[in-house]
Amino acid sequence: MEFKTEVEFTKNIDFATFTKAVIIADKNVVEQFANNDFPMFKLNATEKNKNLETVQQIYTFFQENNVNRATTIIGIGGGITTDIAGFAAATYMRGCRLVLVPTTLLAMIDASIGGKSAVNFQNTKNNIGTFYPAEKIIVNLDFLNSLSENEMQNGITEIIKTALIKESSLVEKLLNREDLKEIIKQTIELKLSICQLDLHDKGERRLLNLGHTFGHIIEVLSNYEISHGNAVAIGIRLVVKISLLNRLISETDFGKINNLLDLYNLPKKINLEFTEKEVTALLLKDKKMTTNANLILFNGFQKAIVKQVSVAEFYRYFSMLKTI
Ligand SMILES: NC(=O)c1ccc[n+]([C@@H]2O[C@H](COP(=O)([O-])OP(=O)(O)OC[C@H]3O[C@@H](n4cnc5c(N)ncnc54)[C@H](O)[C@@H]3O)[C@@H](O)[C@H]2O)c1
Repeated sequence: MEFKTEVEFTKNIDFATFTKAVIIADKNVVEQFANNDFPMFKLNATEKNKNLETVQQIYTFFQENNVNRATTIIGIGGGITTDIAGFAAATYMRGCRLVLVPTTLLAMIDASIGGKSAVNFQNTKNNIGTFYPAEKIIVNLDFLNSLSENEMQNGITEIIKTALIKESSLVEKLLNREDLKEIIKQTIELKLSICQLDLHDKGERRLLNLGHTFGHIIEVLSNYEISHGNAVAIGIRLVVKISLLNRLISETDFGKINNLLDLYNLPKKINLEFTEKEVTALLLKDKKMTTNANLILFNGFQKAIVKQVSVAEFYRYFSMLKTI
């Protein structure tokens, strides 16, 4: 099933174009939208609040404001907000109209694109969710001006990840440090084109998980002291190393990918204590796990593949963290 999402780059959101709408907005960006007439639910966007309780509060807000399927739900914020707004819009009355206004780099190029929405449940991240693409995504790059360096890095890592999985001119643009707006535009186009042909994550879309199976485990083992972006960057470095050892990429490609990560100041090494038992337990909880782990490796430059590896083999690879 192919879906359509319109992406608009603008500095001014024209709320007058929506006949009936309600807003779900991250309270950190809400001030900029204070002067419009639509009812607004202000969200304290934390992972702790990304849960079904918050969704229930939103359903109540929908009832109080007579939301129905013709109402547009406008989600404004980072990935936490766009995920929650998407989930609420997908499930209320079996689906309302959805427009997203991402305000972090990560949400612009990743979380708002491709229709995945989710909330956390009992300490497991994103394990209740839907596939529900927004009909429109409005990108205002001015939001990036107030973002923390850490948040920018999280987004940059996902841009690099997207650039590495499939042939395009994006890697060269990143290496030449071309205009960020162009890089963002191309990343959105690339991610959207992959998701449009594989909404349910059964084919090519799985490649977007590059570095993430390792990254998620690193994040948890570090008690979230290592940011998502840094954990995924280390995950990518591990994948590059494994791909080289399996002769799937050349020394030159190995160097080029690591140079790209270096250029954007992504970490080269981390200190992490772990045991096989801990790593295996976390791997078995991974959403993308089948009988084996589905690892994304390289098979040439800008060519990612899915390779099934056993749990024991996965741990052997994970342990190479100490030597990258
Ligand atoms: N649905 C998907 O495909 C998908 C993909 C990747 C990540 N995600 C989800 O996205 C979430 C992470 O997203 P995120 O990194 O955008 O986090 P976030 O939503 O937590 O935003 C990060 C922080 O930045 C603040 N913020 C938002 N916009 C700002 C702005 N313009 N200026 C200053 N501060 C601002 C937020 O209030 C928050 O404190 C995770 O929950 C993750 O699971 C979803």
